[in-house]
Amino acid sequence: MSWLYRNIARPFLFAQDSEMVHNQTLGMLAWASRCDGSRKLAQALFETAPLPVQAMGLRFPNPVGLAAGMDKQAVAVPMWEAMGFGFSELGGVTGQAQPGNPQPRMFRCVPDGALVNRMGFNNGGAAALAERLKAWRNEGLWPSHPVGINLGKSKITPLEEAPTEYAQSFRTLWALADFFVVNVSSPNTPNLRQLQDKSALDDILAAMQAVNAELGRGEPPKPILVKVAPDLSFDALDEIVSLVAPRRLSGLVATNTTITRPTQQDHLAQKTYREAGGLSGRPLTSRSTEVVRHLYRQTRGSVPIIGVGGVFTAADAWEKVTAGASLIQVYSGLVYEGPGLVRDLVEGLTERLGGGRWSDAVGSAAR
Ligand SMILES: Cc1cc2nc3c(=O)[nH]c(=O)nc-3n(C[C@H](O)[C@H](O)[C@H](O)COP(=O)(O)O)c2cc1C
Repeated sequence: MSWLYRNIARPFLFAQDSEMVHNQTLGMLAWASRCDGSRKLAQALFETAPLPVQAMGLRFPNPVGLAAGMDKQAVAVPMWEAMGFGFSELGGVTGQAQPGNPQPRMFRCVPDGALVNRMGFNNGGAAALAERLKAWRNEGLWPSHPVGINLGKSKITPLEEAPTEYAQSFRTLWALADFFVVNVSSPNTPNLRQLQDKSALDDILAAMQAVNAELGRGEPPKPILVKVAPDLSFDALDEIVSLVAPRRLSGLVATNTTITRPTQQDHLAQKTYREAGGLSGRPLTSRSTEVVRHLYRQTRGSVPIIGVGGVFTAADAWEKVTAGASLIQVYSGLVYEGPGLVRDLVEGLTERLGGGRWSDAVGSAAR
């Protein structure tokens, strides 16, 4: 499957504009989501043997998830499960609908297996996302795997009003997803990453936990995770770690895209790397794994870490697991390797686990 994608589909897709291909693919998946036959065909093609993982009080059929940003508007919710993903993270969504940055804003660097994007949270806003999620439920098409929502800040919202906006989006979407990720690490909203500072993040988390307490009466609170940038120093990461217990964080997501660039001799690659935005894909693999390892050590494995950044092979995924990731996500790998990647990863992880316990493998190379 991956061979066919790489050699037949990819050359055709990569000859076209990156965002256009993205939109067309999502349009197709949105259509397929509502078509019984297409969902069944995808299930048959991408059927993945179970590799169950328990984390955040949720049961994941396998540890390989869809990363945030791929389905910002939740247009293809049932298809992610049909494609074998063990969970999906929808969004990023902001309080207000906003168009994002001017196009072009998504670029490929093929020799490096990388993407540069400065989408800038283009999305229809939290209320519209809530309507779409309700529609999937009403149509009986809600997946059985855990669904998370990635929350961002609207460009027009001043930083000091961020806690109110995150809490409001959380309130709007609270009943509609299994976990929530506070995204304060996207490089494409001016000053957003300043919200990774301890006191700013603390205010956001306090506001969200107040909503959790209010809406969660009689029900367990919704797991809240924080997604971090790979560009933070270990000291800055430690500040975030210091909020895990007091703010009852259910996990950490490591990492978002990086603003750094690898050195590249190739002229075309250099041109892509001069584009402003966040870099994802292969050049991010080792740094994001390093961040996973650091977070695992600093939290002493007390909260699950979702490892994301440059996962293209089962070896990449296993490295993140043994560094401390309980769950894995992919974005760029899916673009470069195609939908067969999910099964390849699950099979490769199962093989490496060799009948052992998942919880024993997590962090085994970081202790
Ligand atoms: C086009 C694009 C859009 C993204 N949008 C978001 C987003 O809205 N929220 C977020 O937290 N991460 C977003 N990301 C980051 C990914 O979720 C992921 O953290 C990053 O790409 C690293 O993983 P990868 O190397 O597998 O792509 C986006 C990435 C790309 C390429």
